Amino acid sequence: MARRTMRAVQYSGYGGGPAALKHVEIPVPSPKKDEVLLKVEAAAINPIDCKIQSGFLRPILPPKFPFVPVTDIAGEIIEVGHGIIDGFKPGEKVVSWLTFGRPGGLAEYAVAPVEVTVHRPHQVSAAEGAALPIAALSALQALKHITTKFDGTGEPANVLVTAASGGVGTYTLQLAKLANLHVTATCGARNMDLVKSLGADEVLDYRTPEGKSMKSSSGRKYDLVVHCTTGVAWSSFEPILAAHGKVIDLTPSAGTFILFAFQKLTFSKKKLVPLMVAGNREELQFLVELVEEGKLRTVMDSRHELSKAEEAWAKSMEGHATGKIIVEM
Ligand SMILES: NC(=O)c1ccc[n+]([C@@H]2O[C@H](COP(=O)([O-])OP(=O)(O)OC[C@H]3O[C@@H](n4cnc5c(N)ncnc54)[C@H](OP(=O)(O)O)[C@@H]3O)[C@@H](O)[C@H]2O)c1
Repeated sequence: MARRTMRAVQYSGYGGGPAALKHVEIPVPSPKKDEVLLKVEAAAINPIDCKIQSGFLRPILPPKFPFVPVTDIAGEIIEVGHGIIDGFKPGEKVVSWLTFGRPGGLAEYAVAPVEVTVHRPHQVSAAEGAALPIAALSALQALKHITTKFDGTGEPANVLVTAASGGVGTYTLQLAKLANLHVTATCGARNMDLVKSLGADEVLDYRTPEGKSMKSSSGRKYDLVVHCTTGVAWSSFEPILAAHGKVIDLTPSAGTFILFAFQKLTFSKKKLVPLMVAGNREELQFLVELVEEGKLRTVMDSRHELSKAEEAWAKSMEGHATGKIIVEM
């Protein structure tokens, strides 16, 4: 490891958006026990990265300033830390999900815990790999509320995916189709063809009355809603759910948690369930394999150089990405 310093992008306080990102030269971090040092090839920006900067999780995150954000990366192992390093060697290509407390993905090098690091075969590009952790794990974990059979051998079910054109939505839609589920999707008019091409059976423009109602045009009631946007009351979901239907809420508010607890106490058949995505190595490995086999694709909204990371950040903050926003080192 010849280099002692690296280029990185960091911020030093809450708020300020892309204008508060600063390009700096800082020390290359060192891997500790059960960690690997990666030369980062690509990183994906997720809405949570910008929400953390805005102070959404204050005072827990960031733990301190200055802070190098971004958790989802792909790169090459340069050095392994001490301890039992489960089959990882310098020179290997990997995908990693860094922790929210110690991310550091917007940099030339980053330290990754092996706990949520998986090998990346040559068929999976760095950009495709970096795109997966938060978005595709969320999609997979949401769908696991009704199926674990992503080979299409499970029970039939009807799923609604809201914001199907976003990072989470594009993966949810494809995984639901691999599981042979019937999918109704909402998105903006400009993305309806894309969402159909990813396999949606019915597509609703969210700015129309039909889209706002979220009703399936074939009259189906939903066994599962993977809800990737905000501003929809439970009273709008309740009539469109099947008898034991669930809404998996990816942007849960305090109200979501209160209703979730109330529905548990009252043994409600229809449920609103908050989702907090969890790091899971086996699941990340499964997703990488699906990409390798050509069964899951990443829709790329845009690719940006590290020197233009603020453009990528601004794009994410606007909330109109189609698929994933990638920064390449
Ligand atoms: N709880 C968790 O663990 C977890 C994990 C992952 C993500 N999330 C959250 O889930 C949300 C989605 O994440 P993401 O990465 O998919 O976001 P994203 O990629 O930024 O989503 C952007 C997409 O959403 C569409 N959209 C916006 N409002 C919509 C609406 N009302 N109806 C239909 N489509 C709409 C946009 O379409 P237009 O451009 O046409 O408006 C755009 O294509 C974010 O709030 C994120 O923080 C939570």
